[in-house]
Amino acid sequence: MNVRCFTSFLFLFLHSLRSCQLSTKSGPVLRDMNNIINLEDLNLSLNPIGDEGLEGLMEGLKSQTKLRSLTLMNCKLSTKSGTILRDLKNINNLEELHLSGNPIGDEGLEGLMEALKSQTKLRILLLEGCNLSTKSGPILRDLKKNTNLDLK
Ligand SMILES: *[C@@H]1O[C@H](CO)[C@@H](O)[C@H](O)[C@H]1NC(C)=O
Ligand SMILES: *[C@@H]1O[C@H](CO)[C@@H](O)[C@H](O)[C@H]1NC(C)=O
Repeated sequence: MNVRCFTSFLFLFLHSLRSCQLSTKSGPVLRDMNNIINLEDLNLSLNPIGDEGLEGLMEGLKSQTKLRSLTLMNCKLSTKSGTILRDLKNINNLEELHLSGNPIGDEGLEGLMEALKSQTKLRILLLEGCNLSTKSGPILRDLKKNTNLDLK
């Protein structure tokens, strides 16, 4: 199998992870993603991985510097996830982050900001149904000023 085939295979495999009921116990498995080369797009939407699964995922993404799009809609992430997502700051190519449907709240957003303020390539951030209050307004405005972000 040549490299291109191999990556397409991985791509298909990873796309099939959508809504396949990965639970919080998936953390150790997600950690193993370190062994996959050049992951660009990951969508784990509808898998209730929770904060615990997210921790494993962040470990797994440490060496994934080519990652451009991370989609974690409705993954049961809580206010604690913001701090965990801080590790995203090591991924310099991130263009899209989809977190809708996770009640991360203002507290979660604050943690997340640490990771996002250094993301020069970030274009899309989706935070629908994230239980943000008016307090998040100024935080998001700051972020918009410092990045090329198109907030939705
Ligand atoms: C991610 O997967 C969900 C569930 O299959 C799908 O609804 C959504 O459109 C996908 N999003 C992206 C950005 O690929
Ligand atoms: C949303 O945030 C408020 C505080 O701003 C909190 O009291 C409430 O429990 C949160 N709701 C959910 C679903 O997390």
